[in-house]
Amino acid sequence: MRKERYLVGLDVGTSKVTAVVAEMLDSAGLEIVGLGVAESRGIRRGVVVNLEAAVDSIKRAIDEAELMAGVEIDSVHLALSGPHIKGFNSRGVIAVAGKNREITREDVRRAIDAAKAVSLPTGREILHVLPQDFVVDEQEGIGAPVGMTGARLEVNVHIVTGSQSATQNIVACVNRAGVNVAETVVEQLAASESVLTEDEKELGVALVDIGGGTTDIAIFERGSLWHTAVVGVGGDHFTNDIAVGLRTPVPDAEKIKRKCGCALSGMVDEDDTMEVASVGGRKPRVMARRILSEILQPRAEEIFHLVWDEIRRAGHEKTLNSGIVLTGGGAILDGMPEIAEQIFDLPIRRGCPTGVGGLTDHVNSPTFATGVGLALYGFRNFAADQGRAPIGAGALVRAAGRLRGLFREFF
Ligand SMILES: Nc1ncnc2c1ncn2[C@@H]1O[C@H](COP(=O)(O)OP(=O)(O)OP(=O)(O)O)[C@@H](O)[C@H]1O
Ligand SMILES: [Mg+2]
Repeated sequence: MRKERYLVGLDVGTSKVTAVVAEMLDSAGLEIVGLGVAESRGIRRGVVVNLEAAVDSIKRAIDEAELMAGVEIDSVHLALSGPHIKGFNSRGVIAVAGKNREITREDVRRAIDAAKAVSLPTGREILHVLPQDFVVDEQEGIGAPVGMTGARLEVNVHIVTGSQSATQNIVACVNRAGVNVAETVVEQLAASESVLTEDEKELGVALVDIGGGTTDIAIFERGSLWHTAVVGVGGDHFTNDIAVGLRTPVPDAEKIKRKCGCALSGMVDEDDTMEVASVGGRKPRVMARRILSEILQPRAEEIFHLVWDEIRRAGHEKTLNSGIVLTGGGAILDGMPEIAEQIFDLPIRRGCPTGVGGLTDHVNSPTFATGVGLALYGFRNFAADQGRAPIGAGALVRAAGRLRGLFREFF
């Protein structure tokens, strides 16, 4: 079997390691053919804390995915996440070089180079430079300037940076597990590929990925990324609150959360009860489900208020015309969209991966948004490199794809 027909997304999360194998079809589509999921050990909030344990988790996910897909995995698209990921906007300006002032790819490259010539603190590196739009002379909001005429070319970009050592350590773990890293992609960007529609990105949307240890935010408008941020609270905080509040062991707290949890106490019937395991070998107790909700609700409110702070800081509180899309395992919790709707007063939906065929029922959960999105990200770049547009994409997407493809040549 030809390996170049396959794209593999590897998401090494705080809670679980996921390997998604996708096959590129000749009809220009992408089909899921394998999935491997292993409990994550040795990784906390995107940072390796125990190398051996992390390597072992990665190996298990890869092995399972290989078995299911019937192919050998030798390279992956790897997701990067954690509080060390930071994003900011920058602008580059150049004088157009050619005799008749016709803008060439070389001019675009120089403008992007100028935009990314920012000084970073030691130990940090640029992970993505994503062009937002161009300005030719005074004309703003240009998507693809090559071939246009002008004296001055400006580009607005979103730059995502991360800690060099955090990236090196996770890449080293993947290498030790026997696979190469074809490309690294920031988690929110990968997840956005699989859960957001082009219309949402065009109109203005915030993607909120509630993982185990962190909540990752990405804000899109006019088809481009404008803001990335990470909030240091995630789904595991709910579990810990339950463990403390109901005095039950953490694994039981996790089970109760998944089975009976609801983030909005008003949605829970007052007469509903549940059984709670006790610590120290005591007998299980029967408690009202309302109590559980009253523990979960303040945490959900905290996360969404922190997210709202980020949206406001970025100046996007009035531009999210398509509202907010919740994804990641934490978004599965009952009542999350409802409480978010109350806090943001915007349309809210849960985002499950779409845009792929094959074994879709295996990956049809917000937890797999990043894994599937990584494969889609790789596919989009592959299609752009081939000069072929991905399926179902509008003109703007094609422009973005070309930009990224063009940019990748130089970066
Ligand atoms: N059915 C469910 N109900 C409620 N919470 C859930 C459910 N399934 C998973 N979760 C929670 O989702 C969180 C894990 O989310 P996810 O799998 O997206 O994390 P991750 O990608 O491993 O972590 P991170 O992105 O922070 O590194 C955990 O806190 C888990 O308890
Ligand atoms: Mg995640």
